[in-house]
Amino acid sequence: MSFIESLQSAASDSKCVNALLWCVFGFGVFKITTLLCRTLALLFDLFLLPSVNFSKYGAGKGNYCVVTGASDGIGKEYARQMAQRGFNLVIISRTLSKLETLKTQFEGQYNIKVEVLAMDIAADDKSNYEQIKELCQNLPITVLINNVGQSHSIPVPFLETDETELRNIITINNTATLLITQIIAPIIKETIREKKSSRGLILTMGSFGGLIPTPLLATYSGSKAFLQNWSNALAGELSGDKIDVELVLSYLVTSAMSKIRRTSMMIPNPKQFVASTLKTVGRRCGAQDRYATGTPFWSHALYEFVIDETFGVYSKIVNTINHSLHRSIRIRALRKAARKAKK
Ligand SMILES: NC(=O)c1ccc[n+]([C@@H]2O[C@H](COP(=O)([O-])OP(=O)(O)OC[C@H]3O[C@@H](n4cnc5c(N)ncnc54)[C@H](OP(=O)(O)O)[C@@H]3O)[C@@H](O)[C@H]2O)c1
Ligand SMILES: *[C@@H]1O[C@H](CO)[C@@H](O)[C@H](O)[C@H]1NC(C)=O
Ligand SMILES: *[C@@H]1O[C@H](CO)[C@@H](O)[C@H](O)[C@H]1NC(C)=O
Ligand SMILES: *[C@@H]1O[C@H](CO)[C@@H](O)[C@H](O)[C@H]1NC(C)=O
Ligand SMILES: *[C@@H]1O[C@H](CO)[C@@H](O)[C@H](O)[C@H]1NC(C)=O
Repeated sequence: MSFIESLQSAASDSKCVNALLWCVFGFGVFKITTLLCRTLALLFDLFLLPSVNFSKYGAGKGNYCVVTGASDGIGKEYARQMAQRGFNLVIISRTLSKLETLKTQFEGQYNIKVEVLAMDIAADDKSNYEQIKELCQNLPITVLINNVGQSHSIPVPFLETDETELRNIITINNTATLLITQIIAPIIKETIREKKSSRGLILTMGSFGGLIPTPLLATYSGSKAFLQNWSNALAGELSGDKIDVELVLSYLVTSAMSKIRRTSMMIPNPKQFVASTLKTVGRRCGAQDRYATGTPFWSHALYEFVIDETFGVYSKIVNTINHSLHRSIRIRALRKAARKAKK
């Protein structure tokens, strides 16, 4: 008797097998239903729901938004698009001249007030934090955008990673982000206590490098994963204080950091990226399985959704693909450096 035949004969007289088949069927229906719900939520978040109205965060009422790493790339766009929505700004980065140029431009163009602070956040200096506190404590701040970040200059094996680079990454991405949030969040709380109409918002820039463990960017990858769980935990703590806390996930964006200049379907420019972020604040988009997290740009979102629903971000296959991707980026970067050195 073949296996199939024995199954059939068992099935015909066993309630047990019948029940098993119903279980399998039920499980299938459950899986398909949840996938369908998540897919619908993804499509609504990305394409169908209207833009978030920032008047709930006090736009156009003299309130301030603080942006770190605001003189270039994604940070500059955050500052510009928040100014466009009627927020006054506090912008922080290393280069005073860049900040002053932006101040003149934004104040003229959007009829708002801009405060600038030039400091090296990687220095992790006490006086830096005091300066931030002194400037910010009397301003009505409702929004903080933790944007400043540093990655490895090129993909590099962990065992060869330069100690300064390693420390800078952790300092900028983690320590400074935590300390600046500790200064600004109480000010946001105070502002919304006084102006009862408004909510607060804390956005932190995460990365696919934190979502997917990334060989050859090990330190960066760990530092972004740290931000993921820190930000989500904080979201729970501050939800009772009317402050929305969200981690923003991004695949590559054209900028000085990514060293990519050409946009493509997968790689938006900072303007497009920030527009999608602010349009969907508070919605998960591609990060359907994560509380207080959003992957706002449509192609990044679909990419994350597919990985989540298939192999999963912690799988060997995704890790291997990623390793070979970064190995080739490293080889190209090393060749380019060698050519430059020859000249
Ligand atoms: N670009 C991407 O592909 C990508 C992908 C995922 C996530 N992200 C994240 O997005 C954020 C912004 O990245 P980006 O690509 O826009 O970077 P970017 O173009 O290199 O801009 C970085 C900004 O931060 C400032 N900054 C850098 N180091 C600083 C320091 N030590 N102290 C104070 N300010 C400093 C820079 O201004 P100064 O030079 O004047 O200091 C500049 O305004 C980062 O957190 C990054 O991890 C980027
Ligand atoms: C946003 O909401 C405010 C008040 O809740 C309303 O006055 C304003 O028209 C809204 N803006 C848009 C663009 O819908
Ligand atoms: C590889 O890692 C990078 C992190 O820099 C991430 O952006 C990318 O999505 C990963 N790609 C794959 C296929 O896992
Ligand atoms: C630091 O954070 C930025 C984004 O906030 C990210 O692009 C960068 O890769 C991070 N660097 C490290 C070392 O984690
Ligand atoms: C955050 O922590 C949970 C466990 O609490 C873990 O399952 C998850 O993978 C963590 N996220 C990241 C990005 O490391």
